[in-house]
Amino acid sequence: MDLMSKIISLAKRRGFTFPSSEIYGGFGSCYDFGPLGVELKNNIKKAWWEEMTRNHENMVGLDSAILMSPKVWQASGHLTAGFADELVECKKCHKRFKADELKTPKCPECQGVLTQPRRFNLMMKTFVGPVEKEAVQTYLRAETCQGIYVNFENVLNSMRLKIPFGVCQIGKAFRNEITPKDFIYRTREFEQMEMQWFCHPKEATKWFNFWVKERRRWYFNLGVKKENLRIKEVLKKDLPHYAKKAIDIEYKFPFGWREIEGVHNRGDWDLSNHSKYSGKDLKYFDEERDEKYFPYIIETSAGVDRSLFVFLLNSYQEIKGGRTKTTKAAKEVEILLKLDKKLAPIKVAILPLVRNKPKLVKKAKEVYQLLKPHFTCQYDELGSIGRRYRRQDEIGTLYATTIDFETLKKDDLTVRDRDTMAQERVKIDDLVEFLKEKLK
Ligand code: GAP
Repeated sequence: MDLMSKIISLAKRRGFTFPSSEIYGGFGSCYDFGPLGVELKNNIKKAWWEEMTRNHENMVGLDSAILMSPKVWQASGHLTAGFADELVECKKCHKRFKADELKTPKCPECQGVLTQPRRFNLMMKTFVGPVEKEAVQTYLRAETCQGIYVNFENVLNSMRLKIPFGVCQIGKAFRNEITPKDFIYRTREFEQMEMQWFCHPKEATKWFNFWVKERRRWYFNLGVKKENLRIKEVLKKDLPHYAKKAIDIEYKFPFGWREIEGVHNRGDWDLSNHSKYSGKDLKYFDEERDEKYFPYIIETSAGVDRSLFVFLLNSYQEIKGGRTKTTKAAKEVEILLKLDKKLAPIKVAILPLVRNKPKLVKKAKEVYQLLKPHFTCQYDELGSIGRRYRRQDEIGTLYATTIDFETLKKDDLTVRDRDTMAQERVKIDDLVEFLKEKLK
């Protein structure tokens, strides 16, 4: 099995992701996030939010509506300019393909003749209002940042901000992708973590360079291997319609180097267009410079789903012959998901040594109740202790506590570290503090 198939299989088997509406055969290349997937996703979003809002000054947050006036999308250029893919159709099997992804002039499925490329807009239409005839046609947002631009004045005034400042937002976005593919890499419903930095036009280049470095550092700090990440300058001809300059942060996926985040200098494209279309003057009066201008926007735009995919790939390890190298394990391949401690979906596992000794099980359940309010925990009593350690390693659980016969006498237990496999005995009374210290 190749790495991609292994990750997809692990993700399904252990509850990270499931195909959406699976009992109906799946739907539109959408994915659901299972019990471990939602924990991992929440941890990624928390790590991003904390990094952006706590480690930087002049940064605030926002949570704007997914549904907005259709005028927003006229002003942003998403209905007209460049937010469309070139599409060709096979005249024989009628399958459609992105023109820029084709390697031959024939249909890759049946070798049929292809039509000329046509522009296909990626916005998802929807109708708002109970009476169909009178309902307003609008769109599910294709990027979260537009909610930030239309609230520029509200945020500025309510928070008494001065330029430069930034606004962060995490939320769902939708695109009617022609060829969703590569597991959760390209889907039609996904989540973005976007930050918009409003600055003086003359300082745009300085801030652009600053944010590229900051965003790269974020991935490295969460354990992404240096050799798997690179910065690629977007050529002028490939720039999105709103950008003056852009770079892609790319990850080395099993299917090649691909974008996981974009940093864009959007110039005054958004604020000047929203001013034009809404009739509201969104220029900023800079008291220090005694100057009125449209601030330039430096945007960092990361995908939650793509980050999750990257963290799974990046942390996946197989250990042939097992980590303990016992003869029993000699033929086995053990899986270790070496996720960063901030990201691991389960922090602590609680394992009674055996499950047929009621006193031991009772004690283990008490430990579970003790830890549960403080950490994401998993209680597991099925199978041999070795097998249970391996099950926890496979999902990246950081610490496994084992309740054994000594526990009943001394009120202590063993804590096993995922990465070193070292075991320490810790008093149950000290356990919460001990783990908190480890997880700092
Ligand atoms: N506001 C700018 C913007 O949306 P983008 O390069 O189109 O820029 C930013 O998207 C990020 O959103 C991408 O780097 C990717 O992580 C994520 N993304 C975009 N389209 C996606 C899709 N169809 N499926 C999953 N993630 C996607």
